Amino acid sequence: MKRVVRLAVVDPNDATRAHLKNLMLGVDSVWLEAECAQYEFFMDVALQTQPDMAMISLDANQQGALSLIENLKKNVPSCSIIVVSSSQEGSLILQAMRCGAQEFLNFPLKLEDFMSALDRVRLAGRSGNDASEVRESQVITVAGVNGGVGCTSEAVNLACALAKNEDNTIALLDLDLALGDSDVWLDIIPDYTIQDVAENITRIDYSLLKRSLTKHDSGLFLLPRPVNIDSNFSLGTDELQRIIALLKATFTHLIIDISKSYNEMELAAIEASDTTLLVAQLDLPCLRNVVRLIQFFDQDEPIGDKLKIVLNRFGLNDTQISLNKALEIIGREVFWKIPNDFAAMVESRNNGIPLITQAPKAKVTKSYMDLAATLSAGKSDNAPEAPAKKSLFSFLGSGK
Ligand SMILES: Nc1ncnc2c1ncn2[C@@H]1O[C@H](COP(=O)(O)OP(=O)(O)O)[C@@H](O)[C@H]1O
Ligand SMILES: [Mg+2]
Repeated sequence: MKRVVRLAVVDPNDATRAHLKNLMLGVDSVWLEAECAQYEFFMDVALQTQPDMAMISLDANQQGALSLIENLKKNVPSCSIIVVSSSQEGSLILQAMRCGAQEFLNFPLKLEDFMSALDRVRLAGRSGNDASEVRESQVITVAGVNGGVGCTSEAVNLACALAKNEDNTIALLDLDLALGDSDVWLDIIPDYTIQDVAENITRIDYSLLKRSLTKHDSGLFLLPRPVNIDSNFSLGTDELQRIIALLKATFTHLIIDISKSYNEMELAAIEASDTTLLVAQLDLPCLRNVVRLIQFFDQDEPIGDKLKIVLNRFGLNDTQISLNKALEIIGREVFWKIPNDFAAMVESRNNGIPLITQAPKAKVTKSYMDLAATLSAGKSDNAPEAPAKKSLFSFLGSGK
């Protein structure tokens, strides 16, 4: 888990101070070091406690608060400053920033806004050797182009491979709300599901969210799909974004397994992701859907750039289409190839034991370990296969 931030709060207004305090108490990565009801006393408190971060409410006395920010910046330079106000006036924001505030947030303060600000402040203040403690979280969605293409195997085994590295903390979110089976792959009987989290979304805080996750032996934390199929249950994009923001605040990697419906919620997951792995196999229905999905996502540049094609079950004997032909059809590079290993996969699934434990020496497991390392490093050493030329469906007349 990330390093805990020691925070001191100052707000002369009892009601808003209580609001800020309650919010902070729900955040595990924040330790409320001190709270203060008067601007005049805060300097002493800060000098004594040397907090990592000060949260200063401006509303009780803007001038008093601004000079406190200036003073704090001068006398406790290591303390980052977040200000909160019900005003959204540009000149006030500017003044606060000029005095030394790093973030300007609004009342009523939303947890996800605070979490994002916290992440930004920590990233801005990081020095070379504490990078692992404060590095930005990576969100990876695993999306399939056809039923049974290997999305869940990939999400689960990638998550476990990432969890093998002690510097990583991993959450796996099963967004296949009806038929998701990541709990089966991991042989987990969860106490809570994403439905419990969604139903408590208005009062969810960091510790409640964490209690809703189930820890697996590999070290990863799973938030599974609802226990029962419930046609009345749906997860709104706002709720999902909130859950993602909270998970990002705790874990270095969030892996999301989605179904293949590409509905609003799944698209929101893709949008919130740094990388989307588009899992396909070398067959005609898959390749046709890769082309269709790329055309769809290419309309939206920021998403299109984040898509990475992964060919699963590579090397399957009865493959009808060669890799070169596939590259030609897709018109994009293939980011990764997961070898076919029916025996290892079936055994792993039937026993509910991930590949790293079930078949640690298998080629398919090595491929997942390398994929995890490459994604963590943010670069691909295994040079992607690039297309020779773009020619959609030109293979149709030529067979292979
Ligand atoms: N690399 C692989 N080699 C052999 N079989 C695989 C491989 N990856 C997945 N499978 C098999 O494919 C089937 C479907 O995988 P699954 O991950 O459940 O797909 P999805 O989530 O896309 O529906 C599973 O039975 C799994 O054992
Ligand atoms: Mg699945």
